[in-house]
Amino acid sequence: MKLKSLVKHLPAEGELAKKPRPYLNHSVELKKVFTPEERAGMLDSVGLNVFFFPSEMITGCDLLSDSGVTTMTSEQWAALHLGDEAYGSNRGYFMLRDRICDTFGDVFFSEPGVGEPNAFIFHQGRAAEDALFTQLGKLGSRLIIPSNGHFDTTGANIEANKMQAVNLFSAELHDTESDVNFKGNMNLQKLKELLEKSSDKIPLTYLTITNNTAGGQPVSMANIREVAQITHRYDIPLFFDACRFAENAWFIKQFESGYKDKNIKSIVHEMFSYVDGFTISYKKDGLVNMGGGLFLRADGMFVKKYPDMPGVILGHQIIKEGHPTYGGLSGRDIMALVVGLSVVTREEYLTFRINQVREFGEEMHGQGIPVLRPVGGHAVYVDVNQFFGDTSMKPEDFGGVALCAVLLAAYGHRACELGYFSFGYYDERKRQEVLPDVNFVRFAVPRLRYEKQDLQSVVAAMRALHEYRHDIPGVEVTYGRNLPLRHFKARFEFKK
Ligand SMILES: Cc1ncc(COP(=O)(O)O)c(C=O)c1O
Repeated sequence: MKLKSLVKHLPAEGELAKKPRPYLNHSVELKKVFTPEERAGMLDSVGLNVFFFPSEMITGCDLLSDSGVTTMTSEQWAALHLGDEAYGSNRGYFMLRDRICDTFGDVFFSEPGVGEPNAFIFHQGRAAEDALFTQLGKLGSRLIIPSNGHFDTTGANIEANKMQAVNLFSAELHDTESDVNFKGNMNLQKLKELLEKSSDKIPLTYLTITNNTAGGQPVSMANIREVAQITHRYDIPLFFDACRFAENAWFIKQFESGYKDKNIKSIVHEMFSYVDGFTISYKKDGLVNMGGGLFLRADGMFVKKYPDMPGVILGHQIIKEGHPTYGGLSGRDIMALVVGLSVVTREEYLTFRINQVREFGEEMHGQGIPVLRPVGGHAVYVDVNQFFGDTSMKPEDFGGVALCAVLLAAYGHRACELGYFSFGYYDERKRQEVLPDVNFVRFAVPRLRYEKQDLQSVVAAMRALHEYRHDIPGVEVTYGRNLPLRHFKARFEFKK
């Protein structure tokens, strides 16, 4: 028998139960060894705030964030050597322009030096948000920026400029058991109601893809299209917070009818065809450790409605970040980004990436831990209220903060509370906590970093903590209850 016919005769490799990862380890780092007592001592000394816990002491998985923690490919490391550190118009800038046009569409990066610029590189996402919202905030008073779910820095940048950040979560989001896809969608009913009442107060509408604040859930193409139609009818531009654009496109291909046979790039192009601009942190789907940007559609509704904006944003960028051709990044960072953007839309990469996160979530679910399902693109979200549902934990005990602290001390895994503490605030006048709709602990999976065994050890740790959930006390806030973005700064103690 010829080898080719034998190969055809055997079960296809895609049908086998286990498949290899679509990448190899390029280099590895051996971890140091620390005991639970040493970790507990350190965590106590930093007031139980996991952000201040030294990463070198993390003996398990560091799932605090998926942002800027990507393991770069060998091509990216090689590209760093080609970085051109010229003060103006470095080589990578032109390559980045080509890559951005290829990825998102030509309309988002006009020819450099010709007319008003529409592409602004920043060192990270929040710097791009700062540039946009500082200028938008000057357009009027009590303005509103609606979104399907603002990220914390986005909301904070909006509020810092005296505007109101409004989240219009989809109705399905709160049903952790329903298997509806695209729970990250904008709630269209609420959007219409808001527009009818206050369209004159809305300079811009935002869609976060995927919706990090709403369980990392994707947004459907139908929802993007409808939000664009609705807002455009009111002459209001639509922007993406596009950090996880490629992961969102993968979900559309997988679960939305009509997209199965389209490639990821064409889906990305269609997604971006509906928006007038976007902010992005390349620390996610740019597959780099640093980078961000603000991009305006040439001749889009935003630049037509606010014709002075490109020039004003350029001025802001030069003062805050540097010349537009490097925008706060070194030439080598730009080179790594050029390569990163070419990898992230590859389907075999995305399929592995998202399935890794989904299997992690399904294994948690299988162990009786209440996770938001279907699992989103970059993280597994544990529902804190359900986790502690049959215990004496009260909302003001901040069970999510307590859970993260115990997980880190006892088992060496770091996760992040994104719930009552991070998104809530203390009302001084009423002397009470104002709680948000959602109360999660997020396990964000860095790209290309951990293997299945690592994530399975997190599941085992969470299973043990779930079993002992009645023994986990709530926490008291000892510092920072009233501060903005308080989860980054606060300190806690376990209640007696
Ligand atoms: C949806 C979303 N928007 C904006 C940002 C801010 O990006 P950066 O951390 O680069 O400032 C993040 C970061 O995690 C995010 O997840």
